[in-house]
Amino acid sequence: LSEALTRAESLIRTIPDYPEPGVQFRDITPLLADARALRTVIHAMIAPFEGSFDVVAGVEARGFLLAGAVAMEAGVGLVPIRKAGKLPLPAASVTYSLEYGTATIEAHDDIAQGTRVLLVDDVLATGGTLVAAHELVHTLGGMVVGTAVLMELTALGGREVVGDVHTVFTA
Ligand code: PRP
Ligand code: MG
Repeated sequence: LSEALTRAESLIRTIPDYPEPGVQFRDITPLLADARALRTVIHAMIAPFEGSFDVVAGVEARGFLLAGAVAMEAGVGLVPIRKAGKLPLPAASVTYSLEYGTATIEAHDDIAQGTRVLLVDDVLATGGTLVAAHELVHTLGGMVVGTAVLMELTALGGREVVGDVHTVFTA
């Protein structure tokens, strides 16, 4: 990691036993609050995909914190992937498994056939969210050309199910 990225990483706060006992919660809010760190990680998320995508698809909720900045910096638009029931005209929806129960994500039909999409989220854990987001974009006719995530929790094995994913930090 570069000096700037090492500094940005040091701003991620680990909170023990949140939201439940035994979980080490990685809190990126101190990093987001720091202008230099925010710019640094946005550049690092885009770097491998520079010029290769037409739109960013960001995953609600924490993915939105990064996706808008990635889109602005790359000079492309943003398509929100939202939790079920938030969009007035969902064109596709995908249901996926969580540790307890299921979740559903939806998107509008704002991805033209063949559009090159960069998927963006904050954290890769089990990978369920990104696999579902990938399927959603595919259903709408978009082509996922890359997946960029700020932080990968390697112990949860998400990389095995998501496949090729660019992560800036690992924990
Ligand atoms: C969190 C995180 C990722 C997802 C990763 O979202 O922001 O989107 O979990 O987990 P996975 O790889 O096991 O799918 P969550 O839906 O919990 O909350 P959020 O709405 O605050 O983003
Ligand atoms: Mg999330």
